[in-house]
Parts: sequence; structure tokens; C-alpha cells
Amino acid sequence: MADWNARLYLTFEDERTRPARDLVAQIPLEAARRVVDLGCGPGNSTEILANRYPEAEVIGVDTSLDMLNTARRRMPHTTFIEADVATFRLAQPADVILANAVLQWVPGHATLFPHLLSQLSEGGVLAAQMPDNLNEPTHVGMRRVAAEGPWADKLAQASAARTVLPPTESYYDLLSPLAAKVDIWRTTYHHPLNDPAAVVEWMKGTGLRPFLEPLDPDEQAAFLEAYKARLTQDYPRRADGKVLLAFPRLFIIARR
Ligand SMILES: C[S@@+](CC[C@H](N)C(=O)[O-])C[C@H]1O[C@@H](n2cnc3c(N)ncnc32)[C@H](O)[C@@H]1O
Repeated sequence: MADWNARLYLTFEDERTRPARDLVAQIPLEAARRVVDLGCGPGNSTEILANRYPEAEVIGVDTSLDMLNTARRRMPHTTFIEADVATFRLAQPADVILANAVLQWVPGHATLFPHLLSQLSEGGVLAAQMPDNLNEPTHVGMRRVAAEGPWADKLAQASAARTVLPPTESYYDLLSPLAAKVDIWRTTYHHPLNDPAAVVEWMKGTGLRPFLEPLDPDEQAAFLEAYKARLTQDYPRRADGKVLLAFPRLFIIARR
């Protein structure tokens, strides 16, 4: 898949970073020596982790060069490593492993989560947040537009890029035998955005990537037009003229 685009991703930096702030605030650890941000992106979540643990060695991990270069410019004294979180293994255990908005792009959670827990020090914490929005109009809409257009064959595999989250309880069953404490919650954020076009822009930075990459520029333009028409119906204007993007997210904290 083509590289992520840090500039596009950061268009909604404040809204996208709020879950990282909420997640890091709940990590039940006062001090840490080594903290790791998996899928660190442009460094927005890494910065929050570093601020919470100012004494700690901080490591960021990502597969995207554009994201890593942006993160390095933002935090020149932090170590950023190009690696895939599915196979990457830390040289030394970490006190905190943060994975904010990345594991939904990685399959095989039944082996991935234990793999991550095994890299924690005794008493260390895994803190993960994943969008749980595949049934929201944004994602139902992109699948429908993909299936109903002349590009249907090209986009037959686009949905497979995202991992369908299993039932929430299955994370508890998976983690509780391996962890001293498991804390799970789900929050729906309601982001006021200017118009349906802003919802399209948000999705271009993340969820739409696998749907746009296989298309040529003309097809991309036609796809985005059809998608925006759907969202205009699904996201009516609110009292102030804006639209409200409901965005459910699943939070998991496991302490070893
Ligand atoms: C939605 S961004 C999240 C960025 C940041 N953590 C945040 O909280 O906003 C997802 C990031 O995960 C990275 N990513 C996706 N799959 C990955 C993988 N298998 N291993 C490492 N990074 C991955 C992408 O390159 C991207 O930077």
C-alpha cells in the first residue's frame, strides 16, 4: 500500500489526538523508564506520551517514512524506528507500550496482543485505542460506493485493509489470563466539522486510503464525488450549520 501522508493526517490533528490524550491519562503508572509508541504517525501521540513520562527513554515505531520524517522533525531527540508492529520486537522490555489508532490496520489480534504484552516489564502497561467505526455512515458509505461503481472489481479487496474488530468481550478473555488488570471502555466522540466535504477530507487521511489507491486520478475524483453525495445525506446540517461526525473508539489498557 502507498505511504501515509502526514500533512493530510494532521489536517484534523486536534480531533485525532484527543483519544491519545484520553488514553494516556488513564495509564495506571506514575513513572516509567522506557516507553514506546507503536504506529507513532507524525509524533502527535508520541509527544503526549513523552510529556506524561518526561524522565523516560521514548521510542516511536512506524512503517511510514513520511510519518517518521515528520515525527523526527517534531521530536529531534527521540528515537524513531521504521518497523512493522506485527513482527517488531523491542531489544529491552518497556514500561509502557502505547498503540493509538494503529492496531486496526494490523490483522491477527489473537496473537498480536499477547506478542505486545510479552514485551512489557513486570507491572508494565499496554494501552491501545482503535477506531470502532466500520458500521458508521462514513464506512458503510465507502463500501457501498466501492461496490456500486464501475470500479467495483478494482476495489473488491479494499475493505480487507482494516481489521474487523471481534466482540469487545473477546479482548477481555484474551488479555485477562495474561494481565494483572484489564480496563476496557468505548467512547463515541462527536466532532463538529464544517460540512460533508470536511468529513471526506478526514477520511482521505485514513479510512479512504485503500479505496483511493487502486484508482486512477479520474476515477478517484468520481469516487470522491459519489462519496460526498452520500455523506451529504447521512450527515445533515446541525443548528449552527455544521455536521457532526460520530466516531466510536475502543480503548484497552492491560497491566502485566
Ligand atoms: C491513524 S495513524 C495514528 C498515528 C498516531 N499514533 C495518532 O495517535 O494519531 C496510524 C499510523 O500507523 C502506522 N501503521 C499502520 N500499520 C502499521 C504497522 N503494521 N506497523 C507500524 N505502523 C503501522 C501508519 O503508518 C500510521 O502512521
